[in-house]
Amino acid sequence: MLAKVFPFALLFQGLIFSTSLAQEYPNEMVEGKYTDFGINLTFTTWSSPYGFTFGLALSDKTGYTGLIRCQSSTNKSERKGWCGLSHGPSMLQNLLLVLWPSSSSSTSSHQNTIQTSFRQATDYFMPEPYPSSQSPPSIQKLSEWVNSTGFELIYQCQGCILSGIDDDTESNTTTTLNLGYAMSFDAPVTNNGEIIELGFHDEAYGTWDALL
Ligand SMILES: *[C@@H]1O[C@H](CO)[C@@H](O)[C@H](O)[C@H]1NC(C)=O
Ligand SMILES: *[C@@H]1O[C@H](CO)[C@@H](O)[C@H](O)[C@H]1NC(C)=O
Ligand SMILES: *[C@@H]1O[C@H](CO)[C@@H](O)[C@H](O)[C@H]1NC(C)=O
Ligand SMILES: *[C@@H]1O[C@H](CO)[C@@H](O)[C@H](O)[C@H]1NC(C)=O
Repeated sequence: MLAKVFPFALLFQGLIFSTSLAQEYPNEMVEGKYTDFGINLTFTTWSSPYGFTFGLALSDKTGYTGLIRCQSSTNKSERKGWCGLSHGPSMLQNLLLVLWPSSSSSTSSHQNTIQTSFRQATDYFMPEPYPSSQSPPSIQKLSEWVNSTGFELIYQCQGCILSGIDDDTESNTTTTLNLGYAMSFDAPVTNNGEIIELGFHDEAYGTWDALL
């Protein structure tokens, strides 16, 4: 069981299977604004047709304040799987943030918390834990909710660099972030909160250019 290799493939659309998968997962991110009145912060948001939303409020060279909301794409009555953000335009080599509801393994549990894990993939297999030899990213939760159809986390990400940020503040050139997302129907297999198995992102995935 543990030796099973999952084809955790293809956040990156430019690869071999892109034609058929692009049809299967059309990737039109809709930009919007969302204000969370609990923490009094307004996010620029990008939402996929499958129920994944990423929001960005503040970012600099040390990190950013983000929102990840993940709701059911098909059956609105239940959602147990993981969702993930790639901080770059591909699954490979970029900082990946994987989130899942902690109650997913036990329907009798009422813990409304979201588990997170930083990962990195060097090939199209299950991403490994983010290497500790590099400066470790960290998360501080600002707000979260979980229910049967989805979850949302608002967080400060320290040491999390979003690919494509233009740090030249003098010019007025448009900044473009190149990001990716992934959604899986299934929860990770975990042991004491640590991921043992992370299945393929079979619900949806894609990359997009986030214009700031
Ligand atoms: C919310 O944030 C805005 C902008 O920073 C500020 O002007 C306002 O006073 C804040 N409101 C509350 C209730 O904290
Ligand atoms: C949605 O999920 C519920 C609970 O698992 C199930 O009873 C129902 O048949 C599902 N509906 C569809 C359309 O798949
Ligand atoms: C889950 O929570 C969200 C946000 O509060 C809400 O919009 C949604 O209706 C809730 N779903 C259920 C099944 O309670
Ligand atoms: C940048 O934008 C500001 C305000 O719109 C404008 O005053 C300034 O001339 C612009 N700078 C350049 C280099 O275009």
